[in-house]
Amino acid sequence: MSTRNLGRSVFGNPANTGNLLTPEEANCLLEDWVPNDRLRLHMRQVAANMKAWALEKEGTDELTARKWEQAGLLHDADWERYPDDHCRIIIEELERRNIDPHIIHCIASHGPSVFGIEPVTKMDKMIYAIDELSGFIHAAALIRPTLYEGLEVKSVLKRLKNPSFAAQVSRNDINDAISRIEVSLDELIQFIIDHQKMVS
Ligand SMILES: [Fe+2]
Repeated sequence: MSTRNLGRSVFGNPANTGNLLTPEEANCLLEDWVPNDRLRLHMRQVAANMKAWALEKEGTDELTARKWEQAGLLHDADWERYPDDHCRIIIEELERRNIDPHIIHCIASHGPSVFGIEPVTKMDKMIYAIDELSGFIHAAALIRPTLYEGLEVKSVLKRLKNPSFAAQVSRNDINDAISRIEVSLDELIQFIIDHQKMVS
């Protein structure tokens, strides 16, 4: 298995700042590259959380929020088809399509211990924090008869302390990501519960 370290630190071209895929193009890419419904849902949930965080917590303009959303939507686009080259393939695709370098850098830094790229901007840091937590919270909701209804932060925290629950989710990455942002774990869990429950 090849290393997933990306081995470079510059992504995209500054001349492409402000270029995004249209919603139709982004959906097409997802439909083509990600047959797995559950993975597509994960990417849509991360996208919704990212967009909402940008607008509600960072007070960004609409275009910036759409960049946060698109980074979330596409961050795992190559995971299913190219697991050994996950991240490199989608980055090269977005570079080929002249997409905004901030979106590409954000995707490249969503797993610093795997891809070797440190999150720099707030958008980078938030995708790192939201990605693992979003999947974990969804797993916690799925085992409840009422799903997200009545799901409380304290029950998510309790499950995080149980290493056998959703064991593939890295608690180290979650703690590392939280240490890089001025947001408490409790606050981010509540935000994700509130914003991803309506994404289906
Ligand atoms: Fe992800």
